[in-house]
Amino acid sequence: MKSAVLVATKGWEPEHWAERIRPLLPDRTILRTDREGVFGGSDGELANVEYILAWKPRLETLDRLPNLRVIFSLGAGVDHVFALPRLPDLPIVRIVDEDLTGRMVEYVVWQVLHHLRRGSAYWQRQAEHRWEALDQPAAHQVTVGIMGLGEMGANSAGALRRLGFPVRGWSRTPKRLEGVEAFSGADGFEAFLGGTDILVALLPLTPETTGLIDMGCLSKLRRSGPLGGPILINAGRGGSQVETDIAAAIRDGTLAGASLDVFETEPLATNSPLWDLPNVVITPHVAAVSDPHALARQIAEQILAFERGEALRNVVDRSRGY
Ligand code: NDP
Ligand code: OXD
Repeated sequence: MKSAVLVATKGWEPEHWAERIRPLLPDRTILRTDREGVFGGSDGELANVEYILAWKPRLETLDRLPNLRVIFSLGAGVDHVFALPRLPDLPIVRIVDEDLTGRMVEYVVWQVLHHLRRGSAYWQRQAEHRWEALDQPAAHQVTVGIMGLGEMGANSAGALRRLGFPVRGWSRTPKRLEGVEAFSGADGFEAFLGGTDILVALLPLTPETTGLIDMGCLSKLRRSGPLGGPILINAGRGGSQVETDIAAAIRDGTLAGASLDVFETEPLATNSPLWDLPNVVITPHVAAVSDPHALARQIAEQILAFERGEALRNVVDRSRGY
């Protein structure tokens, strides 16, 4: 009997993934949880499941899969898997895909340009029916510093460079990227921040990156740039930021603005002060959405290749946690 596949998602509609996977693996049983990640069927149905396609999977669901062989994360990040108190010793595969990367590059470029072109100030003036031109710094005067030079960070760096921004980047291990001034590790952190006008965080959430973007970090950003102060853009993970520090930094002028797509707790509480701070853009974790139409084929092909004995791609390094 052919293996079965379980789509297990919490917060995302599992049927959207199941309906895309079914025609790609027509000889398999494709099971799914409900939107809370709960599988309502019997253990007998799960006995044949060898692959789980997961977003925020529940431990009790994993515990019911005695024949599981691979965990596929439906996103680029895998902190939602490592958040479980224990995990079977199996490969964890994440999404690396041009559709997902392209969406993130769009978000980063959108927000960098929003701040360069004074988006909030013009919206305010429009609301007041006020015709007033503001100073316009050029892209080449504003250095963008990207934390995380992986798939998302490196591609965002390339797009920003093409727009004329000087780009620097910071990663855990040393990197060489054409036209990008590269810094790495704890030793390179302060120097990286000190020349950055717009800080873009595209980091995975690990013990090392948790709480990294705090007042200490924000106060080391360059203050002499042409935007009236530094800007923070975070589309990595909310757990990397200390939101009380970001709010304090906006209020006391340590930051001149921010764009936040991810939060310590999601959804962001309706009474969070972040919603109402000046020059702060809030989006609901949509910088790069996993689209089943674009991504299901990659997963189905990986399953088939794995069964032919080929190596899985984009396997997460458990010791690094990303
Ligand atoms: P990658 O694994 O390709 O890249 C991660 C980068 O972060 C690498 O450059 C890595 O360094 C660096 N890094 C990791 N730990 C540290 C550290 N302690 N200090 C400095 N640098 C560090 O991931 P992706 O680029 O594909 O994705 C990044 C993150 O973006 C995901 O983990 C996810 O959290 C987030 N994301 C958010 C989305 C959204 O909609 N908001 C959508 C998709 C992803 P090194 O190169 O040395 O390994
Ligand atoms: C991801 C995300 O990790 O959507 O892909 O956050």
